[in-house]
Amino acid sequence: MIHLKKACTEDLEKEWLFVKDMPEDENGLTNAWYNVSRQDFEEKALPEMIAFSEGKGLPEGYVPETFFFLWDDDTIIGQFRIRHYLCESLRTGAGHIGQFIAKPFRGKGYGTEGLRLTLEEARSIVPEEEIYLRVLRNNPASLRIMLKNGGRVVAEDEEHYYVRIANPGKGRYPDRAEAEKLLAEAEQCNPGPWGNHSRTAAHCAEKIALYAGLCPEKAYILGLLHDIGRRFGVRHLGHVSDGYTYMMSLDYPDAARICLTHSFNEMKFEGYIGKIDTSEEETTLIRSKLAEIIPDDYDRLIQLCDAISGAEGVMDIVDRMSDVKRRYGIYNQGKWDRNLELKAYFEGRMQRDLYDAVEKDSYRPV
Ligand SMILES: [Fe+2]
Repeated sequence: MIHLKKACTEDLEKEWLFVKDMPEDENGLTNAWYNVSRQDFEEKALPEMIAFSEGKGLPEGYVPETFFFLWDDDTIIGQFRIRHYLCESLRTGAGHIGQFIAKPFRGKGYGTEGLRLTLEEARSIVPEEEIYLRVLRNNPASLRIMLKNGGRVVAEDEEHYYVRIANPGKGRYPDRAEAEKLLAEAEQCNPGPWGNHSRTAAHCAEKIALYAGLCPEKAYILGLLHDIGRRFGVRHLGHVSDGYTYMMSLDYPDAARICLTHSFNEMKFEGYIGKIDTSEEETTLIRSKLAEIIPDDYDRLIQLCDAISGAEGVMDIVDRMSDVKRRYGIYNQGKWDRNLELKAYFEGRMQRDLYDAVEKDSYRPV
């Protein structure tokens, strides 16, 4: 069966044999590990591939990149790479995806199937509405593979065609300017410190994302909108369902999801701190969505940012949890511990101190 699998240590032997024979540069896809020794593959190449997928150890200007191998049963056929989001050089250059099929397997449909599977993976990684690809003009086989997967040529120059493929899984949140407008309007409906709390959360999310290998733009926007349900008045749990319903009504499901998940860092309804002031219908909605959603790094990121963001700026996580405990008279121990776990998780991803990363001492929301 044809399947795609991330580079991993359990497949080391076969991955090594494949990578060492991949050309150094073929049709624009470079292989830094051509002819690599078994030892260097194990000690350097594979750890680097795995680290790059987590945004660790990236050279200056690189974005995180996940390496996949295309397998047919237990034989590696090709390698596919997903660059997690666009920077300026990728936007005008190589785009999101790199693909390579080993010579003996070309012309057999593996490329088309491999790209289809890679696009499936990209749905949950790439935040942009379209997947960007580039192909050399003298490589019609690769161009055909892209077109068979729904690609359209949007530009060309002397050397390349530039292809885009719709990314139906993503881009499902407003852009930055629209998000800022939505927050400003919502504050007029229900003024309060929650507006600047949201700006602080957005700032923290953007900074952490930058160092942790997530998309900073998406993180900022989701942080800005996580409490948007407060637009509809002073409610406790109600702001969660209000936010979810509001964002869904504007067709922004990724933002809607954050309105819901940010309040439940254990993904359990019982973990909510505050008054359960929702109608039966709203409660059912929250419970059913919580059961359905498998939290991703953006859910975890905004949960953490919510726990360190005050209206005046960034707070110490323990000070903020203690403040909530004082106001509500209770702070569930599981939620408390989970917040500390999230802090440790992102510090590990960033390889730096959380408060340094978010400029705790100097940042003030405007
Ligand atoms: Fe919040």
